[in-house]
Amino acid sequence: MPAYAVIGGQWGDEGKGKIVDYLAQNAHAVVRYNGGGNAGHTVDNDKGVFKLRTVPCGVFSTKTELTVVGSGVVWRPDSEGLVKELKELEAKGVDFSALRIDCASNLVMPWHILEDKLDEESRGSLSLGTTGNGIGPAYADKHKRVALRAEELLNFPDFGNKFRRLFFQKSQSDRRIGKHLRNCPGCEACKLLRDSRLYLSRVEYTMNYLAGKFGNLANLICDTPPLLYNLLDRGAHVLLEGAQGALLDIDHGSYPYVTSSATGSAAAAQGSGIAITDIKEVLAVFKSYVSRIGNGPNPTRIGGNLEASLREKAAEFGTVTGRPRNLGWFDTVMAKRVLRMNGATGVAITRLDILDGLYEIGIGVGYDCHPGPCQDPSHALRSERVRAQIDYLPGWAGNSANGCKLDAELPHNAREYVKRISCGVPIKLISVGSKREETICVSPVW
Ligand code: IMP
Ligand code: MG
Repeated sequence: MPAYAVIGGQWGDEGKGKIVDYLAQNAHAVVRYNGGGNAGHTVDNDKGVFKLRTVPCGVFSTKTELTVVGSGVVWRPDSEGLVKELKELEAKGVDFSALRIDCASNLVMPWHILEDKLDEESRGSLSLGTTGNGIGPAYADKHKRVALRAEELLNFPDFGNKFRRLFFQKSQSDRRIGKHLRNCPGCEACKLLRDSRLYLSRVEYTMNYLAGKFGNLANLICDTPPLLYNLLDRGAHVLLEGAQGALLDIDHGSYPYVTSSATGSAAAAQGSGIAITDIKEVLAVFKSYVSRIGNGPNPTRIGGNLEASLREKAAEFGTVTGRPRNLGWFDTVMAKRVLRMNGATGVAITRLDILDGLYEIGIGVGYDCHPGPCQDPSHALRSERVRAQIDYLPGWAGNSANGCKLDAELPHNAREYVKRISCGVPIKLISVGSKREETICVSPVW
């Protein structure tokens, strides 16, 4: 079995973290291929509950001999970034010695965090509702070819010089930065940028910590694709872990209300440096309903008291920002497009237990478009005004998906519901609770 990509099929927060943690038990390598600290992947296993943002969710598996932060990822090298996650893992006794960071991954600098904030402020009522982690500006600089890459950290004096030069250039080209630094009473970005020496000393401190853990920083920050080729060529299981979801994809999502990276299965090859032909299986992770955080369309939005009570029940608040997520019914039209576009060979359905107790459950089956109803998801991705046409299916109130260990144990209506939303693609996994063991394996993945 070669590489297996796990992608989010909706607007992120589908439960990819849990699914990757589950599948990693049988994976030799796990690669995170896109996004950065905007992601919040919740994992609940025998070691505790973790909210990973940059570290791959395969880090907990004892079978996994390699966990990679791929070249498609952007990450923070200061004490509030990746190293903070590693320290939390260390405190809970998780061994992360198999971690490698691709030398071509890009760094999120303090000015990116400030630019993100200033860009959002300047958009006013048209703001995107970003997570404020500097993700968009970091990818913009990557594509402008003015970014600092992870490999620069291996020569710290040079890194410091480049940092100062780039910061000077940024301040020259974007006058908002100097103005903000003069007037702001002290936001996070200000604290990092007002004293470059302090910032650089923090980065150096964290790099020294990592050098200590890995013997040498170059053991951690290295060229990772050859490590993956070695594994792939001997037939090992390589799991590719996506962040965000297909509808937040920079090209194919609800632009401009998207993230700044490609999120789908094509990005899984690009962001990890393996061949597209190495990927033989694509698992699309769908939540049993949809959630959306930040601004932009959500055509199946539930609204009212029902949405509010489901939000409380499911604790649908942003892992990174704490904002309430907007909830919608499962959108089958959007799902079909995502499945086709990403070549999904299987689906994982998550949070089925959240629908326990409902007498009827909506699913989106089309859109109310002008001049008439349509089945074209691109309309709904482009306008916040488009509403979905909702069909209602009977729920399984009185029975419960939570606690079921086998597909056959699920309430009849729950099985029918899962069949309907999987849109004809084989169902591999059904998640009925947050813990690793609350996962029904319908058909083995590896
Ligand atoms: P950014 O990725 O921080 O630039 O935010 C852009 C949009 O993507 C906003 O609507 C965010 O709320 C959304 N977003 C980014 N990362 C995630 C995620 O991991 N889960 C859900 N939404 C996300
Ligand atoms: Mg999340």
